[in-house]
Amino acid sequence: MARVLIVYSTRTGQTKKIAELIAEGIRFEGPEAKVTNVTQIKTETDLQGYDGYVFGSATYHGEMMQPMKTMLFLAEKANLEGKVGGSFGAFGWSGEAPARIFDTMKNIFKMDMVDGPLRLKSSSLGGGTQMAQDYGKKIARRLT
Ligand SMILES: Cc1cc2nc3c(=O)[nH]c(=O)nc-3n(C[C@H](O)[C@H](O)[C@H](O)COP(=O)(O)O)c2cc1C
Repeated sequence: MARVLIVYSTRTGQTKKIAELIAEGIRFEGPEAKVTNVTQIKTETDLQGYDGYVFGSATYHGEMMQPMKTMLFLAEKANLEGKVGGSFGAFGWSGEAPARIFDTMKNIFKMDMVDGPLRLKSSSLGGGTQMAQDYGKKIARRLT
């Protein structure tokens, strides 16, 4: 069974909600999905053993949150080349973080990126729930 790791960085919980909705979409299609706070990723071995990775951060002051930056330096050593990837994050107005994460996964880790980054103002507004679940389904379908 394919396995996907979803790692989120959040301050007020919106990005965690999106992570859980993406996981629902993945599980709907069959693969296993594990949702983890970025603070639980301590070494690159914590990132090993999955077929797909979805990394997300809220945007603050035009940037991804510091714990996600630190985690991406760990991920650089985890040999994720060719693995399926995606990125996401909650935002208020500019939402830079998901695209920054996506570009790093694509250009540095050389992952097989699905679609584009998922940016949501709120997981519960404007069809966001469906969009997040659909993003998870797309990740899952790329694995099978
Ligand atoms: C001090 C502060 C700075 C913020 N800076 C940005 C920003 O530069 N761009 C943006 O799109 N949203 C910005 N936001 C909005 C957050 O990204 C938004 O509230 C998001 O839903 C928070 O997600 P979280 O609950 O996962 O932490 C900012 C919010 C605060 C409180």
